[in-house]
Amino acid sequence: MKKILVTGGLGYIGSHTVLELIEQNYEVIIADDLSNSEESVLERINDVCGIKPEWYNVDLSDTNKCNDFLKNQKFDGIIHFAAFKAVGESVKNPLKYYRNNLLSLINVMSYLKTHNHCAFIFSSSCTVYGQAENLPITENSEIKTAESPYGNTKQICEEILKESSAAYDLKSIALRYFNPIGAHPSGKIGELPIGVPQNLVPFITQSAAGILGALNVYGNDYPTHDGTAIRDYIHVVDLAQAHIIALERLLNNKNASPIEIFNIGTGKGSSVLEVIKAFEKASGEKLDYKITGRREGDITSAYADTTRAKEILKWESKKTLEDALKDAWRWQKKLGQENSD
Ligand code: WQD
Repeated sequence: MKKILVTGGLGYIGSHTVLELIEQNYEVIIADDLSNSEESVLERINDVCGIKPEWYNVDLSDTNKCNDFLKNQKFDGIIHFAAFKAVGESVKNPLKYYRNNLLSLINVMSYLKTHNHCAFIFSSSCTVYGQAENLPITENSEIKTAESPYGNTKQICEEILKESSAAYDLKSIALRYFNPIGAHPSGKIGELPIGVPQNLVPFITQSAAGILGALNVYGNDYPTHDGTAIRDYIHVVDLAQAHIIALERLLNNKNASPIEIFNIGTGKGSSVLEVIKAFEKASGEKLDYKITGRREGDITSAYADTTRAKEILKWESKKTLEDALKDAWRWQKKLGQENSD
């Protein structure tokens, strides 16, 4: 049984990827310091698949603690999710983001220097592109000056990965996610935003559940068909499965170079108003929203060219926007039941 380390494995995308790994008969070890997740996710994973993965509560940005954790381990692969990811917070507290996101990567990658057979998957983001000149966005699209410290940490981490992969002859893949949404169809795991959600879909589901007030639609004066901004919303289960396919490419030594980069999206753009309409159809709920001013730092439109993932990884998204919104709503209602029990 191949042994895979999932850093940030109790987080939103991490936990869904852990489930997919277990279902594909991998032995999963989780390293997560609970800075943006909850220990209860372990039980949730166990509820879904009957296996409770080994979990280490370790701050990977602490070099000594990370080295102590890694030194006696024998991993066949590492999927590195552990990072802070709130764009707005990164603007207010850039050093927290540079320190955590860069040091965690550097410390985890130090293991690869002495174990370069170990496959390495890096959680990157479409944020690295900023507002692309041309759409859909390909992996060769220009990497513009980052719009936030968070986006800059992803760009810098990719540079670290590129140069280290060449220098140490590694096997690595960076996956540039577009907008992950939704939850596991079981309704037993999903997104657990801390505080008021910054992202669109968790705000929508909490608003529909009566936890939050009306949704603010940040601007309807964008140069798009309905004036609201466009994003490529990908179901988190499709995204998790892309990680398994990328991992197996490396475990089977199929990679064409020490580092490969893939966009992971649906290839389809949806506006904020279209997401609202799709949510109302998926949930049967009427959503209360109002149009407000634009949110600083937001771009007009981003959606992926998924040719490379389709042709090289043989992966493409299967679930629709409506599937994701249905699953997100089921998860929100389950959370509500748990809280009232
Ligand atoms: C989507 C759209 C908002 C909230 C962020 C990160 C990105 C990635 C995904 C990690 C935008 C609008 C939102 C609201 C709204 N995360 N919106 N009202 O900003 O595209 O991407 O999450 O990698 O790095 O930047 O996602 O969900 O915040 O916004 O109108 O209350 O919804 O303006 O057009 P975003 P989002």
